[in-house]
Amino acid sequence: MASSSKAAAFAALLFSLLVTYGSCTRPVNFNESDFTADPNWEAARATWYGAPTGAGPDDDGGACGFKNVNLPPFSAMTSCGNEPLFKDGKGCGSCYQIRCTNHAACSGNPETVIITDMNYYPVAKYHFDLSGTAFGAMAKPGRNDELRHAGIIDIQFKRVPCNYPGQKVTFHVEEGSNAVYLAVLVEFEDGDGDVVQVDLMEANSGSWTPMRESWGSIWRLDSNHRLQAPFSVRITNESGRMLVANQVIPANWVPNTYYRSIIQY
Ligand SMILES: *[C@@H]1O[C@H](CO)[C@@H](O)[C@H](O)[C@H]1NC(C)=O
Ligand SMILES: *[C@@H]1O[C@H](CO)[C@@H](O)[C@H](O)[C@H]1NC(C)=O
Repeated sequence: MASSSKAAAFAALLFSLLVTYGSCTRPVNFNESDFTADPNWEAARATWYGAPTGAGPDDDGGACGFKNVNLPPFSAMTSCGNEPLFKDGKGCGSCYQIRCTNHAACSGNPETVIITDMNYYPVAKYHFDLSGTAFGAMAKPGRNDELRHAGIIDIQFKRVPCNYPGQKVTFHVEEGSNAVYLAVLVEFEDGDGDVVQVDLMEANSGSWTPMRESWGSIWRLDSNHRLQAPFSVRITNESGRMLVANQVIPANWVPNTYYRSIIQY
């Protein structure tokens, strides 16, 4: 090829790159795994931990405080997120679609995972440390083990609304709660998957007392008086939409117990 036609071919290549990827500022030293042509998907890396077909940690607890994450509705489709995903606990319960395309065993189909834990040693800007189950779910049928064997792979992800068919918002009164201290785990919210505020109303008090974020998805109230149950709980999502679970925590509440509401976003 003559050098002028080489230059023309190079210019055409540059032009096609610009057309394909638009004019967004890109890092100078980017490669294919740093971004995708579809602006709705972002690049991340994925690893996995725990048992190959497990739900992550043995105690299935993690930094969000969720329990029994191996059971529905989480069904082991769980992930640790590094700080941009975990967000100091505000990311707990967020739902993401993930997919992989650049390993032979990848199906390319999107799978939905829920952030249930914190990832302390990120290997990329966005790092999903998945349960073995969730990592394997990105594989073609019958090739889960082959994909897990890769250990660490490039993936793509996007935030999606959570959707828990048939599930209502559930409150778990945490171990250690007592007459002057109440800690409540809030879970299974459709949409955002998380709440930005939780308030409590004591029996016949007629007023809401703000709870504060304790850790993960657990909200707490430290009271200067004996709290009068039953308690109503009001939750507010990121759009400011409030829902009230009327007297959801009964007069005879006990710690370490789930109380299911009849509310849902
Ligand atoms: C792309 O970048 C990642 C890390 O940023 C690196 O591990 C990978 O090898 C690179 N791929 C190519 C084809 O250069
Ligand atoms: C908050 O709840 C409303 C009503 O269900 C819903 O339309 C909205 O999408 C929710 N916002 C978020 C951020 O989830």
